[in-house]
Amino acid sequence: MKKVIIANGSPRKKQNTAKMCESFANGVKEAGGKAEIINLYDIDFKGCRSCFACKLKEGKNFGRCSYPDGLSPVLDKISTADGLVIASPIYCSDVTGVTRCFIERLTFPFFEYKEGYPSIAPKKLKTAMIYTMNVSEALSNQMYPDMFDKTEFMITTVFEKPVRIFAYDTYQFSDYDKYVVEVFDKNDKLKHKEEQFPKDLQIAFQRGKDMVNNIEKS
Ligand SMILES: Cc1cc2nc3c(=O)[nH]c(=O)nc-3n(C[C@H](O)[C@H](O)[C@H](O)COP(=O)(O)O)c2cc1C
Repeated sequence: MKKVIIANGSPRKKQNTAKMCESFANGVKEAGGKAEIINLYDIDFKGCRSCFACKLKEGKNFGRCSYPDGLSPVLDKISTADGLVIASPIYCSDVTGVTRCFIERLTFPFFEYKEGYPSIAPKKLKTAMIYTMNVSEALSNQMYPDMFDKTEFMITTVFEKPVRIFAYDTYQFSDYDKYVVEVFDKNDKLKHKEEQFPKDLQIAFQRGKDMVNNIEKS
């Protein structure tokens, strides 16, 4: 059975990003695969410490992140998976800091400082990225013209170019009346949540199915 790990880089376990993760996971299961969602905010870890154990000549941890914290078992689990999804809300025009730390720890050991920066990842995982954000698609294209490429650079280099899945214009507050929000209209947000978000979830579901089918074909 093909195994897909879904890393949720949102602190909220029941909101937009989490729902997109669940939908992707359901698609994986529908196609006969096994999906596991890992909430990165539950794990006690930080970004790369620059210890360079992963680059030490003849080192026993060459090519792997051996820093002993909560992320180690997750990285081990990913090394035996067939597919990986990284999901994050956009925070301050980027993925969340926790997602960024995760990407550093996951990819840097597989990135060799050699001509052409060859990948030494033991497995070329199928990958996907899920992004959720407050802004509309048009505004995202205008505000973040190359942010997604930059975020995905290391993932593309060590594995393959990820499939991108988006949920724009997300519903951020449980009750818009309780918060100071003048730039977003609560009725527009509600309409988008009811009309567009279910379609975004459906796309995530379909991409989950596609990932398992692609893994089986490769
Ligand atoms: C600290 C913080 C910063 C944010 N920055 C942005 C941003 O730069 N651009 C944007 O479109 N949305 C931004 N948002 C909104 C979230 O990306 C959006 O509501 C997202 O769907 C939340 O995901 P969640 O429901 O899984 O928590 C921000 C939210 C927070 C809490």
